Amino acid sequence: MNQGNGGRQMTAPGDQPGPGAGAQDRPAAGAQAGPAARPVLTAGRLRIRPGQPGDAARLRVIRAEPSVARWWGEPDEETAIEADLAGDSSGVLLVIEIGGQVAGGIQYHEENDPKFRHAGIDIYLGGGFQGQGAGRQATALLAGWLLGPRGHHRITIDPAAANEQAVRCYAAVGFRPVGVMRQYECGPDGTFRDGLLMDLLRGELTGP
Ligand SMILES: CC(C)(COP(=O)(O)OP(=O)(O)OC[C@H]1O[C@@H](n2cnc3c(N)ncnc32)[C@H](O)[C@@H]1OP(=O)(O)O)[C@@H](O)C(=O)NCCC(=O)NCCS
Repeated sequence: MNQGNGGRQMTAPGDQPGPGAGAQDRPAAGAQAGPAARPVLTAGRLRIRPGQPGDAARLRVIRAEPSVARWWGEPDEETAIEADLAGDSSGVLLVIEIGGQVAGGIQYHEENDPKFRHAGIDIYLGGGFQGQGAGRQATALLAGWLLGPRGHHRITIDPAAANEQAVRCYAAVGFRPVGVMRQYECGPDGTFRDGLLMDLLRGELTGP
């Protein structure tokens, strides 16, 4: 898969194509911030969609699973998850569905200072959905939308350096390691651990 949508559907009611849309090979320097967009993106059985009533409670249960909390920390309160699903001008949390079931969450945030414009992604899947390629598929789907209709030229992601599954998942999509950010984030045990900054430029997106 490359940055063409490869059969994936990308629709976002009210979405404003960024200045980079249609100019796939050059950075969208100077692109303007748009309102929070909540796209619907589909690839086979996997669907990324805006939040609906009831999602925050389900996502909180997933966030509390040990395999997720290990890397994401204690789950936020339901009201905070609801606010993330509503989004703001700097980003939004979206729901990942697989075969109609809520499987996890994926969020993007945007740096809209034209000089440094880029977007970042974070993702979690419930334990029952991990290790089957869904992480790669969801990350590629959202990155494709950010690089295409949303007009970004650079996407970042910053897993814990020790999170091998995440690092391999992102590398499979085309993210490259930039460097280790020492003692970057505080883990559930209260100690700071290293993070790995990875980035992906337009034209580097690959698919599973
Ligand atoms: C990280 C996460 C999104 C990845 O999604 P996923 O669907 O599990 O990943 P994929 O199946 O697409 O790819 C996983 C890769 O890790 C490998 N992998 C699977 N289990 C692993 C393990 N226990 N240790 C190391 N690598 C592992 C797979 O072989 C695959 O690599 P490959 O393509 O080189 O073979 C998902 O596992 C998750 O949500 N984990 C819990 C929360 C989390 O860590 N979020 C990320 C925070 S930055």
